[in-house]
Amino acid sequence: MLSRPHGFLARCRRRYGDVFTANIAPYGRMVFLADPALIRQVFTGDTHVFHVGGVRGRVLSPLLGEHSLLLLDEDEHMRERKLMLPAFHGEALRRYPSLMEEIAEEQVSGWPVGETIALRPRMQAITLEVILRLVIGVRDTVALARLRDLLNRLLDQPTTLLFLATAANRDISWFRPWRRFLEIRAQANELIYEEIARRRADPSGDDILSLLVQASGDSLSDEELRDELMTLLIAGHETTATALAWAFERLTRHPAALARLRDGDAAYIDAVIKETLRVRPVVMEVGRDITEKVRLGEWELPAGTRVMSSIALVQRAERDWPDAHAFRPERFLDGQPAPYTWIPFGGGPRRCIGASFATTEMAAIIPVVLRHFDLVPERPESERSQTRNVTQVPARGARVVLSQRTPKPEPQGVLSAV
Ligand code: HEM
Repeated sequence: MLSRPHGFLARCRRRYGDVFTANIAPYGRMVFLADPALIRQVFTGDTHVFHVGGVRGRVLSPLLGEHSLLLLDEDEHMRERKLMLPAFHGEALRRYPSLMEEIAEEQVSGWPVGETIALRPRMQAITLEVILRLVIGVRDTVALARLRDLLNRLLDQPTTLLFLATAANRDISWFRPWRRFLEIRAQANELIYEEIARRRADPSGDDILSLLVQASGDSLSDEELRDELMTLLIAGHETTATALAWAFERLTRHPAALARLRDGDAAYIDAVIKETLRVRPVVMEVGRDITEKVRLGEWELPAGTRVMSSIALVQRAERDWPDAHAFRPERFLDGQPAPYTWIPFGGGPRRCIGASFATTEMAAIIPVVLRHFDLVPERPESERSQTRNVTQVPARGARVVLSQRTPKPEPQGVLSAV
């Protein structure tokens, strides 16, 4: 499960069917679901019964805080989600693509040509910048540089440290790596609180923080805003960077798709993004802990059961996706997938709040890279999928060699011919 999660889960399904239990250290027993109808039941079920559960909170709360949308349940979750939704559906989203392109242009101009580079960390630099400038809305270049540095150091902390600290369940500030984590977090918080104060004084910007302040007024406290910004950072930047890395990993092994993409057809880029998220889901499954007895299909699950909705299994099932392992963006050009067979962003009242933000960002960044470079994979064979925190990343980081693209000759008009 840890080294080859896709293969392991696919074998379990072949052997046991669409519902099976696996006992995986250190998490314990979990019931995996690979049936779209049952997953729908979990995603859209009563939020008092389906909780996000303790594991997620134990690992993430030191980073995200107690008020994070990712960790809240029931009415508190609904209340904060309602306050946050307008910021992700506003007019502002329409202005983002050009800003995202600008950020990508700045970053790719420094990429080396003629040598092997890993795209994932480079994509992460772009998506971090997008969060800093478009989500938190940092403008001052000094504050931007400090926050960039602090957040990078904070995100570098191993998840095992966070797990250990919360598992210990007592003060472990004698432990140096933990003390270091707390120091960096305090410094980052200070800068984030400064940004919140600035936006409260003048919330006229169209960054997400301004929109949150506009939409929620005083309903969200400074502490709640801080926790939500941290949540958007954690949920939004590594995920999107990984999806971008997979897009290039797949495209460089499918030259016909890459060539068609270069033609600039908007429907095709949308199809490429959807197919990447289908065949290489960044998040393989999402978990819920059930608080009371639940009937799922022919199964009765007792209270306390941990249920994992397997995004990876439903999205790669031959039943719904003929030639499921092949990368064929064309399949998204005609018609919609059957309900709950394409769920890279989850579903129901906890569906990813940043789904449009992420796909908008991917659609803005991919063409910038293609405009600048021709890309060939370092090796012809596909990269394996590997677990990194809660995401599935290309094992070698999506390694490619770039060459500068010779600019297309300008069309020769009558005047220039003269
Ligand atoms: C390709 C990129 C992304 C993927 C694959 C992804 C995936 C997901 C998934 C599967 C969930 C559902 C978790 C659950 O059901 O418990 C989720 C939730 C969430 N995502 Fe994303 N995400 C992406 C990008 C983003 C971005 C860009 C943002 C914000 C800027 C974001 C913010 C969130 C938040 C706040 C939640 C929690 C929603 C709630 O519990 O109400 N995500 N994401």
